[in-house]
Formats: sequence, C-alpha cells, structure tokens
Amino acid sequence: MFIIRPTEDKDLDPILELWENCGITRPWNHPETDFFRKMTQKDNLFLVAEKDNTVIGSIMGGYDGHRGWIHYLAVHPSHQRIGIATALMQNIERRLIAVGCPKVQLMVRADNTSVIDFYEQLDFEKIESVSLGKRLIKD
Ligand SMILES: CC(C)(COP(=O)(O)OP(=O)(O)OC[C@H]1O[C@@H](n2cnc3c(N)ncnc32)[C@H](O)[C@@H]1OP(=O)(O)O)[C@@H](O)C(=O)NCCC(=O)NCCS
Repeated sequence: MFIIRPTEDKDLDPILELWENCGITRPWNHPETDFFRKMTQKDNLFLVAEKDNTVIGSIMGGYDGHRGWIHYLAVHPSHQRIGIATALMQNIERRLIAVGCPKVQLMVRADNTSVIDFYEQLDFEKIESVSLGKRLIKD
C-alpha cells in the first residue's frame, strides 16, 4: 500500500532521483531549484507517493487564479501500472477544486503518446494551441 502526502524538504534527494529515473528532467531546467521554488509557495500542491518510507511518485500542481497546472508527474518504473499516477492526479484535482480552481491543464510532448493515453483515460482533452515561453530569471 502507498500513501500520498505533501512534499517535505527531506524529500529533495529521493525526488531528484525519481525524476532522473523517470526521464523527466531537462537540460534547460534545474530540478533542485524547481524543488525549492515550489516549496516556498507552501500551497500543499506538491505531493509525493510513498511506500515503505520510499518515495515512488510525485506530482507538482499549481493554481494561478485562472487555471491549475500539473508538472512533474512521475512514478518509479518499478511501480508503474498499479494506479499510483491516477491516485496522484485524483488527489491533486481534489486539492485544486478545494481552492476554487475551475480547470486544469498540462503540457506533454506531442511524441509522448503513452503519456497522452494516460491523460486521455482521465478525461483530459487535447487543446490546439501554441505554447510560448520567456525566461525571466537566468538560472
Ligand atoms: C505516465 C506515468 C506517470 C503513469 O504512471 P502509472 O502509475 O503507471 O499510471 P497508472 O497506473 O495510474 O495508469 C492508469 C492507466 O493509464 C494508462 N496508462 C498508464 N501508463 C501507460 C502507458 N505507458 N501506455 C499506455 N497507457 C498507459 C492505462 O490505461 C492505465 O491503466 P491500466 O494499467 O489498467 O492499463 C508513468 O508512466 C511515468 O512516470 N512516466 C514517465 C514520466 C512521464 O513521462 N511523466 C509525464 C510527464 S507530462
């Protein structure tokens, strides 16, 4: 059995290892900086799944007043396909609803078809749009 709980500072190393194992770190992002930036928000929307005191899953949610966002959803390869990501998504959706968030979005690379399958079976729909970005702080 696993539990889902808000991330704590002590989870830094296991989470960085999890993200690395799941292949979701990107050369242009700094996962450790992301971890601490999110922790300063203290919004309880950064969660881990834990089994036998080991971090096996994560999700980072946020609410900007207009919509919610999901980042860093990851489940350790040895624990996939037993419903952990689904439980993390359901938990974060409940928390977003509780703070009045009316809709939630996320970004997936177009060629990541298995992850798109995962989100579609959770009733996410594709939205045709172009994502634009601009760096505000040089890390
Ligand atoms: C995507 C991910 C989080 C799914 O985690 P998970 O805990 O295995 O997902 P669940 O067990 O809750 O899956 C529920 C359902 O989603 C679908 N699904 C999940 N993974 C899938 C895959 N690789 N291919 C196709 N469908 C998939 C299935 O319908 C599955 O139900 P089933 O196992 O009864 O067939 C996990 O594969 C992962 O960490 N991937 C690497 C990191 C990543 O790409 N994250 C997303 C960043 S946007």
